[in-house]
Amino acid sequence: MPTQKFKLNGDSVSVDADDDVHLLWVIRDLLGVTGPKYGCGINVCKACTSHINGKAFNPCSVRVGDIKDSDEITTIEGLADTSDGDLHPMQQAWIDHDVAQCGYCQPGQIMAAVAKVRQCQREGREVDDSAIEELRNICRCGTYNRIREAIKAGAENM
Ligand code: FES
Ligand code: FES
Repeated sequence: MPTQKFKLNGDSVSVDADDDVHLLWVIRDLLGVTGPKYGCGINVCKACTSHINGKAFNPCSVRVGDIKDSDEITTIEGLADTSDGDLHPMQQAWIDHDVAQCGYCQPGQIMAAVAKVRQCQREGREVDDSAIEELRNICRCGTYNRIREAIKAGAENM
């Protein structure tokens, strides 16, 4: 069985797994990092949203064999370390706006929000309703209005 190597939340990791195993299961089941949630496994619900080299992606739909040694994967567990404070500004905004209900979708929501704000900053776009509506993360509890307000607040501090 091949040894897979990459960076996860700032640490170099190596794990034995077949190339065809999708990364979400490597992260959750083999490495025990459970922030990225399993919802659909087919790149639809976005519950597993994490970052690869700073951009949003869905590890349920990526073979671990396609991940390079130099790729840096960040999950919700490592997000705060990408900012100066104890929490990332988007996490703080989530608390301030009391966004979570059951919570299941929320790690993916926050990771998607951070990536969207970074994308808007790169492109010189405002983080407005139309930018936020490009996000496709499903929330079965219907917290979309609070998500929208939290993203705008978090973006002001990024
Ligand atoms: S579990 Fe990855 S998109 Fe649904
Ligand atoms: S908070 Fe329950 S699914 Fe989003």
